Amino acid sequence: MDKLLIEGGAPLVGEAAVSGAKNAALPIICASLLCGDSLNLSNVPQLNDVATMRRLIGQMGIEVTADGGGTLTLNSRRLNNPVAPYEMVKTMRASILVLGPLLARCGEAKVSMPGGCAIGARPVDQHIKGLQAMGAEIRVEGGYVLAQARRLKGARIVTDMVTVTGTENLMMAATLAEGETIIENAACEPEVVDLARCLTAMGAKISGAGSSRVSIQGVQALHGADYRVMPDRIETGTYLCAAAATRGAIVLTRTSAALLESVIDKLREAGCAIDCRPDSIALQAPPRLKSVSVRTAPYPAFPTDMQAQFMAIDSVAEGSAVIHETIFENRFMHAVELLRLGADIRIDANNAVVTGVPALDGATVMATDLRASASLVIAGLVAQGETLIERIYHLDRGYERIEEKLTRLGANVRRVR
Ligand code: UD1
Repeated sequence: MDKLLIEGGAPLVGEAAVSGAKNAALPIICASLLCGDSLNLSNVPQLNDVATMRRLIGQMGIEVTADGGGTLTLNSRRLNNPVAPYEMVKTMRASILVLGPLLARCGEAKVSMPGGCAIGARPVDQHIKGLQAMGAEIRVEGGYVLAQARRLKGARIVTDMVTVTGTENLMMAATLAEGETIIENAACEPEVVDLARCLTAMGAKISGAGSSRVSIQGVQALHGADYRVMPDRIETGTYLCAAAATRGAIVLTRTSAALLESVIDKLREAGCAIDCRPDSIALQAPPRLKSVSVRTAPYPAFPTDMQAQFMAIDSVAEGSAVIHETIFENRFMHAVELLRLGADIRIDANNAVVTGVPALDGATVMATDLRASASLVIAGLVAQGETLIERIYHLDRGYERIEEKLTRLGANVRRVR
């Protein structure tokens, strides 16, 4: 298993281009299941999760061609196996995103239940409840969601909590339903908006995406389209944090500050000077960061996917901060690894109190999930001496060419096989 060896201490300096968003690319790839024409995508990040999604739809009969440079052409003309097997779903929870499109296009779907994951139980009851409201018959048998519907019918759905993939699944299903579907308490995340834009380019009738009330007027069929995936706001935020923690100065291109205002506000509060241009962000770190408290919540509030990275920067900032996680019940696994590097963190239920220390010390640590891994990379870049991060397959799920990008910014990072 690959490991990442980091020699800490070098400030990140220079320019890096942000990749396409993983969490937008995954639902958009699933949108290709909704029509028999070609969907031509660009700015698709080359990540393990994207490869898993390609394999998953490939075994359904979808033709996938890639140019190796972020362009994917998907053609679902020969979709003949509306099944998502356990072996694939267990490696990537986002596989549940095939459920809505398969049901809408084929009238049936058999999708493995995702099960729990390291950061929490993460049920899919809202996806199921919404599809049932649209007339689907759904039962769970042998660990699989078995869904059937002749043609889905528009419905008014109020989700019990804000769910990103739940909103996306229901929005995709509703594009081909009979009549109007209204999703109340919808997720407002930019990735939901990006998916809605792609679906609109395919002929869907959607309004309100990006607000908590999305309305979809079903159509008979969708058609092919060309679509460019939005920039990855979490990758953007992660590199900004890495530069902030290492007292660096970086410019990130092909991204937009408008996607992560809550994160930029917090980095400014920590003392960073940030200059936002139309498609780039420049950050200059202060000599020492000030601690910042954060509370995770659905967009536009502070994202749970940036919580671990802020714990890393608070670990070396001046003062104490409280990190309050409200989305997932078990998302502090990085804290115990940060302790191994000398951080001062106390956990009480879903609160972490982080008191900054003058320096971290390199050690061997273990990555436990995608964003936890990112926080360990940031900590390793700051720590004195060598940090060896084990199980970096988590990083490869969500960060495109991470060691190459970091090396170009001046970090001493090496993949050890
Ligand atoms: C998505 C993102 C993930 C991010 C998360 C929260 C993708 C592929 N992943 O995950 O990176 O961390 O949003 O911003 O886009 N819940 C239920 N029942 C449901 C659905 C959700 O109880 O049917 C709960 C979850 O357990 C969690 C909360 O709702 O506590 C939010 O989860 P959700 O927004 O659905 O996360 P994902 O869409 O899986």
